[in-house]
Amino acid sequence: MARIAIPAETAANETRVAATPETVKKYVALGCDVVVQRGAGAGAFITDEAFEEAGSTLADDFSSLVKSAEVVLKIQPLNQEEMKLVGKGAVIASLQAPFTNPLLADYNKQGFTSFCMEMIPRTSRAQSMDVLSSQANIAGYKAVLLALEHYQRFMPMLMTAAGTVQSAKVLIMGAGVAGLQAIATARRLGAMVEAFDVRAAAKEQVESLGAKFVEVPQDDDADAEDAGGYAKEMSDEYKQKQAELIAEHAAKADIIITTALIPGRPAPVLITEDTVAKMKQGSVIVDMAVEAGGNCPLSEKDAVWTKDGVTFVGVSNIPATLATDASALYAKNMLNFMSLMLDKETGALNIDREDDIIQGSLLCMDGEFLKPDLLKGGA
Ligand code: NAI
Repeated sequence: MARIAIPAETAANETRVAATPETVKKYVALGCDVVVQRGAGAGAFITDEAFEEAGSTLADDFSSLVKSAEVVLKIQPLNQEEMKLVGKGAVIASLQAPFTNPLLADYNKQGFTSFCMEMIPRTSRAQSMDVLSSQANIAGYKAVLLALEHYQRFMPMLMTAAGTVQSAKVLIMGAGVAGLQAIATARRLGAMVEAFDVRAAAKEQVESLGAKFVEVPQDDDADAEDAGGYAKEMSDEYKQKQAELIAEHAAKADIIITTALIPGRPAPVLITEDTVAKMKQGSVIVDMAVEAGGNCPLSEKDAVWTKDGVTFVGVSNIPATLATDASALYAKNMLNFMSLMLDKETGALNIDREDDIIQGSLLCMDGEFLKPDLLKGGA
């Protein structure tokens, strides 16, 4: 019977929790013993009592929580202090910020079995465990609302006795999971939406949501997508053509939401200062790539500021601003992932190293670091 610990997150602005009463019930039904740190659900408005009613016990602090825990389920990676309190050989599953986390090798030195939720393969079988998708979906939705908070006009077209209000023009850069949800949300609110992406496969998805796909003409057949479905870094020629086209469309936009990311690399700069200079007074840029350096050099992490009439919104960890649903979906992804390893009869832990989902997400086990490229500063 696995003993599972659910800590209260300590990182700044982290309001989410890696389990909910619903998933606790399921772990208990599988035969696991679940301990939740008091207050762990507070940011997501889940009370300690709700966790208790679901079948968990409560621990007063992190140290008593993880003492004798076989499995620790978290949102954020373990920090230095937490790491020292968790017992050797424990199984940790959390977001690991694999390209930037300086502690990855230390987890191995501590003898942890460490799973990186971001590296779960993007396959159909793993879809129900895909935290990148569940959290990006939330972030894409919320980014539109963040833009509206700072945009001083209506989103939909309105005909009133006092005059007609034009609908907002929204430009979405990057039509992955977050971008597609941003498109859908902006459309629901009545905006006219255009979107860019380097992956040709995005065109159909963008159009099916009622938005216009802006295509960068390409002479060669260079494939912008890698084997995992992610975007690759583009050629200088492509970047030049794209910059010109973006500048043209940005000048007409009221709201720009940027989501473009390249795994393991700084986010591509898509909105240059020259492009910003062409934008309308009162327009708003929400830079969802701000944690990876930003798609616009003028956006600042965790700051909202205005320059020459354009407002830059640089909120990091957007999913944590919708903590209840973000936790519910993350916790469900985590349960589906852990179910791969928990014996249905006994709740005992059994890690099948041959399983492709386990292989993709397992960083270290038995003192062996299994993704050495990450330690070299790249993937
Ligand atoms: P992401 O968060 O890594 O990047 C966001 C978007 O930015 C991507 O669509 C990317 O193509 C785009 N982008 C990157 N550089 C750009 C540039 N210079 N200009 C314009 N756009 C740029 O992407 P996300 O949302 O994680 O999706 C990555 C891929 O994984 C997609 O192909 C998606 O369809 C696929 N996927 C597959 C799943 C499955 O099969 N289970 C689940 C979710 C996503």
